[in-house]
Amino acid sequence: MNIIKTIAPYPTDYLTATELAEIDHEVSIMETREAAGIEALKVVQEHRGWVSDDSLLAIAQYLKMSTAELEGVATFYNLIYRQQVGQFVIHICDSISCHLNGFPVVLAAIKNHLNIEYGQTTADGLFTLLSNVCLGGCDKAPVMMIGKTHYEHLTAESAIAAIDKLRESINDAEGVSP
Ligand code: FES
Repeated sequence: MNIIKTIAPYPTDYLTATELAEIDHEVSIMETREAAGIEALKVVQEHRGWVSDDSLLAIAQYLKMSTAELEGVATFYNLIYRQQVGQFVIHICDSISCHLNGFPVVLAAIKNHLNIEYGQTTADGLFTLLSNVCLGGCDKAPVMMIGKTHYEHLTAESAIAAIDKLRESINDAEGVSP
């Protein structure tokens, strides 16, 4: 378990008005403040890209729960990022159906294309690669998820094409030439 060592931020100073309003909404539909823990983590991650120690501390204080308790929630839920991640997080399924249907080849192609290993982020800050347990698309294996999109029946080529398309979308938005 992580030991949170940062100075406690005052939650209503640290969290933005928008974050607080969204967390308040989650609290309002739960039976207890603590029950809103996972949703509060998602709110902050949605706005900041990840959940830093200070963010976790602020949320815990706001929900009147211990940091250890909230850290437990964050750790259990593998889509909460407790370290800074890239703009796109690639979750590639390494469970059995995907393993049997080409996952190793797809994984090797992604690692090679992005020049990163599991847990690493590309130098341009665009992509982080993470392993994931079953993504629920076993009949369409191998599968990866980036954001809310599932990419199914992957091959090395289709995985690279999907990644390149995301990179192009960012370059287009920023007016960067390929
Ligand atoms: S085993 Fe990969 S999606 Fe289920």
